[in-house]
Amino acid sequence: MNAIDLLVTRQSDPQLIAPAPDKSCLETILTAGMRVPDHAGLLPFHFTVVENEGLKKLSDIFVQAITTPTTEQAKLDKTAKMPFRAPLIVVVSTKYQHHEKVPKHEQLITAGCCVHAMQMASVALGFGAMWRTGDLSLNDNVKQGLSINPQEDIVGFLYIGTKAKSLPLKPTKLYDDRVSYL
Ligand SMILES: Cc1cc2nc3c(=O)[nH]c(=O)nc-3n(C[C@H](O)[C@H](O)[C@H](O)COP(=O)(O)O)c2cc1C
Repeated sequence: MNAIDLLVTRQSDPQLIAPAPDKSCLETILTAGMRVPDHAGLLPFHFTVVENEGLKKLSDIFVQAITTPTTEQAKLDKTAKMPFRAPLIVVVSTKYQHHEKVPKHEQLITAGCCVHAMQMASVALGFGAMWRTGDLSLNDNVKQGLSINPQEDIVGFLYIGTKAKSLPLKPTKLYDDRVSYL
């Protein structure tokens, strides 16, 4: 797939199954994640790779994070299954650096670019991927379970795997009402 085809046809795949990208493909995906626009080269991000027994660990982290005496069992069961929606997850979190010329929001954008770059690399390698966040990404217990400091942000859980089925290409969105010319 050439670069322009990739850029203009990117879409998410919610249904992902094994096999996960192998070691070599994962290295390529992570390398793409490192190749993002990054003001002052602060590397304001961290990637936590979750696969194999890590998926069960993440499931336990999710469940513990939402468990209160009143949490309904159905919610616990649904939450426990979430990490198994793909054989591989890369959790992208911020690693904010103090810099007089690079405000926090720019660093957050850079970390977001990492997720996008890794989704694109996954697709280019023939895999499917989907960027997810949700309440769990804002949950301090989840951060603690992943050894992410509370002042950092979880920018995304990038679910990656083999496409369960080939989805039809979504229509191209027209840019007309999102573009103006000065
Ligand atoms: C920051 C961010 C967080 C997202 N979180 C979720 C999520 O938690 N659940 C979800 O279904 N989609 C989420 N999405 C949207 C999907 O990743 C996807 O982009 C959307 O379903 C549109 O599909 P497409 O990527 O094929 O255009 C998120 C997207 C972004 C950019």
